[in-house]
Amino acid sequence: MTAAHLTARRAGPLRGTVRAPGDKSISHRALILGALATGVTEIRGLLEGDDVKRTAAAMAAFGAGVERLGEGHWRVEGRGGFSEAADVIDCGNAGTGVRLIMGAAAGFDMAATFTGDASLRGRPMNRVLKPLGEMGATWICKAGGRLPLTLRGGALRHIAYTLPEPSAQVKSAVLLAGLHADGGAEVIEPEATRDHTERMLRGFGAEVEVRETGAGRHIVLPGGQALRGTNIHVPGDPSSAAFPLVAALVTPGSEVTVLGMLLNPLRIGLLETLGDMGADISVTNVRDEGGETVADVTARHSALEGVEVPPERAPSMIDEYPILAVAAAFASGKTVMRGIGEMRVKESDRIALMAAGLAACGIGVEEQPETLTVVGAKRGNHLVAGGAGVTTHGDHRIAMSHLILGLAAEEPVSVDEPGMIATSFPGFVGMMRGLGAEIAEDAAAAA
Ligand code: S3P
Repeated sequence: MTAAHLTARRAGPLRGTVRAPGDKSISHRALILGALATGVTEIRGLLEGDDVKRTAAAMAAFGAGVERLGEGHWRVEGRGGFSEAADVIDCGNAGTGVRLIMGAAAGFDMAATFTGDASLRGRPMNRVLKPLGEMGATWICKAGGRLPLTLRGGALRHIAYTLPEPSAQVKSAVLLAGLHADGGAEVIEPEATRDHTERMLRGFGAEVEVRETGAGRHIVLPGGQALRGTNIHVPGDPSSAAFPLVAALVTPGSEVTVLGMLLNPLRIGLLETLGDMGADISVTNVRDEGGETVADVTARHSALEGVEVPPERAPSMIDEYPILAVAAAFASGKTVMRGIGEMRVKESDRIALMAAGLAACGIGVEEQPETLTVVGAKRGNHLVAGGAGVTTHGDHRIAMSHLILGLAAEEPVSVDEPGMIATSFPGFVGMMRGLGAEIAEDAAAAA
């Protein structure tokens, strides 16, 4: 998509049934573990967003056979490890891609140079480099642990690492490095984060032990394990499904069903929070698919009420706070989101950009270092004004969140850099239009 702006405006109700795109976290992991394994891995439902395509290209660069067989259907032929790449590995916008791949690459006696787009080059890599360094990897990089950087791995030692921040990316990088470390690796996470790496390692035949202890979850990956290729069905991404579901909640007369959405207990914080707000959401057809729980989820237009979101819920919905802030804008009363400092080091500073975007749309917001408070417009039946052109700093979730806001606001809302939506949800605009949304390309940003 090359439009300079996208503009969303109020139209009729949203109605219909859609399928969420493949989960981004699971898609990255399927490609990486497939490349580390020996033998063939067939992946169905892979997210074909830019972030994941970068990971596919990186796996090919490290020597795996990577082939697209059809829509979302990929074949990875792993060679039991990585070999040195001929060129720089460019992970584009993908923090998950680069951090997990660095962990995996650290296990091998080779140098690899990583870079990314301007957003990724501004994001902290020290959180991954610190444990990898303790395991024996070395690197040269820009000041402050930023990309581009060259990592040299091989001959890694065992580590027992307590995560200083609740990050599934860091946990996964350590576990992937641990596959080729003498004695494996252990990670202790005081706050549980998404566990797709642990689950998928088991699917590839590895032994991973998880114990609940007083200090949190203790994950033990014994050393000397080989992975065997397997088949993976990627479930629908709850972080993407969140956009049509919240759109239905805030747009009068709407009812939208998302089929096959991942319901991993460490990813359902948004559903719990929307439930607390009084959202009319039903979950049906709950089933197990490839070791993960999936279901069909229906959202209907609802009178929402502001809530205090428990800070301990943050890791299970960290990517969903931008769209939660939009739901909160249409609620009555205040929604207070605490303990969300990690949002400031995502693809953009998401606390700052949501606060600025909502304020420009006439919503009362208050921003603190680790907290975002949204004053719902429905108090006294005020309406969400909209009528703004929002700067997204190339952040896909900031763009989609404000477009959803525009679908139910009084005046249209425009976002810049809409091409970035394709990093995680290439079919977003088409899907929303199919449900009845009015989203136009190339319109000039509103004042
Ligand atoms: C992810 C972990 C989270 C999340 C990101 C995907 C993953 O990041 O925000 O979109 O797939 O492991 P952090 O590990 O930085 O919390």
